[in-house]
Amino acid sequence: MIILAIESSCDDTCVAILKDKELLSNVVSSQIEFHNKYGGVMPELASRLHIEKITYVIKEAVSKANISLKDVDYIAFTVGPGLVGSLHVGMQAAKTLALLLNKPLVPIHHLAGHIYAARFIREFKFPLLALVVSGGNTELVYMEDELKFKIVGQTLDDAVGEAYDKVSRLLQSGYPGGPAIDKLSKSGEIKYHLPMPKNDDSLDFSYSGLKSAVINLIHNMEQRKESYKKEDIAASFQNVACNILIKKVKLALKRYPNIKTFVAAGGVSANSCLREKLVELLKDYPQIDLILPNLSLCGDNAAMIGMCAYYKIISSSYDNDLTISSIPQYELEDFSL
Ligand code: KG4
Repeated sequence: MIILAIESSCDDTCVAILKDKELLSNVVSSQIEFHNKYGGVMPELASRLHIEKITYVIKEAVSKANISLKDVDYIAFTVGPGLVGSLHVGMQAAKTLALLLNKPLVPIHHLAGHIYAARFIREFKFPLLALVVSGGNTELVYMEDELKFKIVGQTLDDAVGEAYDKVSRLLQSGYPGGPAIDKLSKSGEIKYHLPMPKNDDSLDFSYSGLKSAVINLIHNMEQRKESYKKEDIAASFQNVACNILIKKVKLALKRYPNIKTFVAAGGVSANSCLREKLVELLKDYPQIDLILPNLSLCGDNAAMIGMCAYYKIISSSYDNDLTISSIPQYELEDFSL
C-alpha cells in the first residue's frame, strides 16, 4: 500500500510517501528563517507559509518517491494538536487529495506520530513507555499495546522545548532554542545552581519555574554588573532540564516494571545530553529495548505520521470509509491520545 502523509501542525510543511513501512520520500520545508526574527513561531505567518508551500512539497515528495499521485492508496494527515490555522492547511490539502483520488483519509494524532518515528529503527514490544518531549508537550505515555495510549505524566505548565526556546531568547541565541542551547552547553560549565522543578514523586513535570530561575539569575548578575558566560548558563540550565526528565523516567520505570520498550520522541529527543543520560540510565534495565529515533526524525516530519497511519490502517479498528465528509472539523480540538 502507498501512503501519502502530511504534517503541518506548527512551522514545518512536511509530506512523506511510504510503501507500507518503507520510506520512499520525506520532504520537510522549514519556516525557521521566517520566524527566527520574532524569537518564536508567529501562528498567522505559519499558516500563510503552509498555504504557499504545501502544493510544492506534495509535488516534490511524489516526485522523489518516483510514484504518481494515482498510485496513492491512503492519505494520512496530522489532525492535532497544534496551531489550528496550520493544521487546517494540512487537513484541507489532505481532503482535496482524498476528493480528487477518491481514497480514504487517515487522521493521526501528532504525538502518536512522534512515538511512531522510532518504528523506523525497530519493531516495538509492548508494554512500551515513551517520553514525548517537544516544543508544546512534555509527557510520559504508557502503551499497553499497538495504538493504545495512556498519558501517565505531563507538564503542568511550560513544555521542556518551550523552556529551551525561552532561555535561548533570553541569551539572544536564536530560534529554535534547543539546538542553540545544546551547542552552547558543550563549551560551558555547570556553574550555577538552579532548582529542580517538580522534584517530587509524581510523574508530572513543570518548567515555568526553571525558566523564571534563569531569568532571575541573569537579572541579578546584570544588576550586580557581574559578567557571565552564556555557555555556563546554558550548561547549568540543560543539566537541570535533563536531570528532571531522567528522574521522572526512572520513577515511571519503577511504577511500570513490565516495560519492554522505551522510546524517546519529539524535537527535544535530539538533545545530546538527554540521549546520553537515557543510554546511561537504561543500562540498568537490560530487559528494556531503548529506541532513540534518528536525529532527522526527532523534529516534525510526515514520515512519522505515515508510519503511525500504516499501523492504524492494518488495525482492526480502522474505518476504511473515512472519506472527506466524515472528518468533522471538531476533530481538530479533540486531542485525546
Ligand atoms: O517536535 P518539534 O519539532 O515540534 C513540536 O511538535 O513542538 O519540537 C520542537 C522543539 C523546540 O522547542 C526546539 O527548541 C526543541 O524541540 N529542540 C531541542 C533540540 N532540538 C530541537 N531541544 C533541546 N535540544 C535539542 N538538540
